[in-house]
Amino acid sequence: MNKQTTILWAVFCFSVLAITLQSCEKDEPAEGIDLELLNMAKETNGFTWYKNSDTWLDKSAGSGHNYNGLRTRYNAVAATQLDADGKVMANASFPDGSFIVKELSNGTSVELYAVLYKMSNHEFADDRGWVWGYAFENGNVATSAEDKGAICTSCHLQSDNIDYMLMNKFFP
Ligand code: HEC
Repeated sequence: MNKQTTILWAVFCFSVLAITLQSCEKDEPAEGIDLELLNMAKETNGFTWYKNSDTWLDKSAGSGHNYNGLRTRYNAVAATQLDADGKVMANASFPDGSFIVKELSNGTSVELYAVLYKMSNHEFADDRGWVWGYAFENGNVATSAEDKGAICTSCHLQSDNIDYMLMNKFFP
């Protein structure tokens, strides 16, 4: 494949994933693990923002999340993997207990939370120890963590991810 074909192919794959992500949204009240993750996401105390800033960022070209704005924060355990600028360290490996929240919005108040929770022994952890949550601020589930990140992982394993993290790649 030449470079142009490769780029077109990559764009196509992202689009398919983005559409899949949309159509999988369930819109049922969160319960069990999904409610637990949603409540954890709504807690804002003790978090550190990516690049130490709570400014809403315009979504990147690679984003599978169909909202205009986003911002990402890390709980105290996850923040051990950030450098002084608030970026994920190049060799980061997030310890159990790490909780990372991506807030999504079309305005300035949070509408949807996409979260990553490192808990290796969790029944819904994927084979890298991460639990993937996706729920609306209004209490409904977008995609259940019981799916073990099936629609999230392939995109998050793209080149230059750091332990799945993509903020550094798209917001350097
Ligand atoms: C088509 C690609 C794609 C898919 C699918 C996708 N994401 Fe993401 N995600 C991104 C990109 C790109 C970023 C970097 C910020 C941005 O541009 O949105 C990101 C950022 C994140 C972050 C912030 C941490 C970081 O640095 O990566 C979390 C948490 C997250 N996604 C969770 C999820 C969850 C949960 C799912 C599945 C329900 C999911 N993502 C599916 C592309 C994707």
